[in-house]
Amino acid sequence: MPWVVREAVRDINRAVGRRWHAIDPLLPDPATLPAGCGEPLVVTADNGRVAGLGVCVHQHIGPDSLNQTWGAADRFTLVPRLAGPDVAAPADQLLAQWRDHLAGIGATRGPDTSAGVVWPSMDVTGIRALLRHGLQPLTVIAARTRPSSAGLSSGPPRGAHGVTIRAAGPADEEQVLDLELRLIRYDLQFGGPVWRASTARLVRDEIRTSLARPVSRTWLAERNGRAVGLLVAQSPQEAGWIAGMTSAAGAAYLQTMFVDQAERGTGIGAALVRHLHARLDGAGVDVTLLHHSQVNPLSAPFWYRMGYRPLWTSWEARPASALR
Ligand SMILES: CC(C)(COP(=O)(O)OP(=O)(O)OC[C@H]1O[C@@H](n2cnc3c(N)ncnc32)[C@H](O)[C@@H]1OP(=O)(O)O)[C@@H](O)C(=O)NCCC(=O)NCCS
Repeated sequence: MPWVVREAVRDINRAVGRRWHAIDPLLPDPATLPAGCGEPLVVTADNGRVAGLGVCVHQHIGPDSLNQTWGAADRFTLVPRLAGPDVAAPADQLLAQWRDHLAGIGATRGPDTSAGVVWPSMDVTGIRALLRHGLQPLTVIAARTRPSSAGLSSGPPRGAHGVTIRAAGPADEEQVLDLELRLIRYDLQFGGPVWRASTARLVRDEIRTSLARPVSRTWLAERNGRAVGLLVAQSPQEAGWIAGMTSAAGAAYLQTMFVDQAERGTGIGAALVRHLHARLDGAGVDVTLLHHSQVNPLSAPFWYRMGYRPLWTSWEARPASALR
């Protein structure tokens, strides 16, 4: 990378860090830009100063990875750094350069491709540019911070009438698999996951490994001995892969949440989440993160009722050729 660009990267990262902290204290310092597929895309302001940078990252996810179920097989991601304060015009220029770059390499022609940008949810000045370029807000990373000691509830978490919550073990593999697969099928409606030939097998493998752990992170809600709800979480030690998305040290991750359709609206989801929160709050975990579909009509109202709020929004054009 030429030194002029290196200097610009450093200056822009500092400016971006200041802006992010001002708009949302839960945002992290901007990470070092990843090595992209080539030189960074550079946006200059009218006065010739560098107003923004972006790196394009290409990723192929193979069929043996469960990650292929969570999106397209070939993903093109723009990692933007825009100094602001108003990022509308530089975002527009950067997205136009990125579109031309992707069109130029011809890699985006296939049907199983996506072009995506992960954008701070509170950074609203760039949203029109994202929409104008054909990107759709698909997924949200939402965050919940631990209440202050005054807000912590004492005593056992409130349950749901006639429902017991227990940690799942190896003998529960079939019930957990059934609920997990029903959740994925439900989520398919919102354009995020893609059902693959290997999806059920890979989900089963993941469940088997997870249920064999000495400390279970999978909980079942049961009514009359029948599993009617599922919650799976990762401790901060297991959730290191997403820790860099927040300024808080040691975030937990809420991976799966599903309640049988006939049982919804009766307090089971809330009872499972309160059960988890009581443990995390007791262990001093400051932040819990989760993904939910932006357009799932059941998830946003539920999560925001449970104390979560948007932190990052993933914008996507799928297939990648839909970027305009
Ligand atoms: C989201 C889901 C887990 C909620 O579980 P649930 O058992 O129906 O939720 P609860 O009955 O415990 O509701 C808890 C609170 O959220 C509110 N709530 C739940 N769903 C709501 C909705 N769609 N709209 C408005 N409020 C809602 C309830 O009114 C309740 O509020 P209260 O505490 O003031 O009474 C359930 O709808 C579900 O499994 N959906 C399909 C899978 C899914 O979307 N999973 C989340 C993926 S990220």
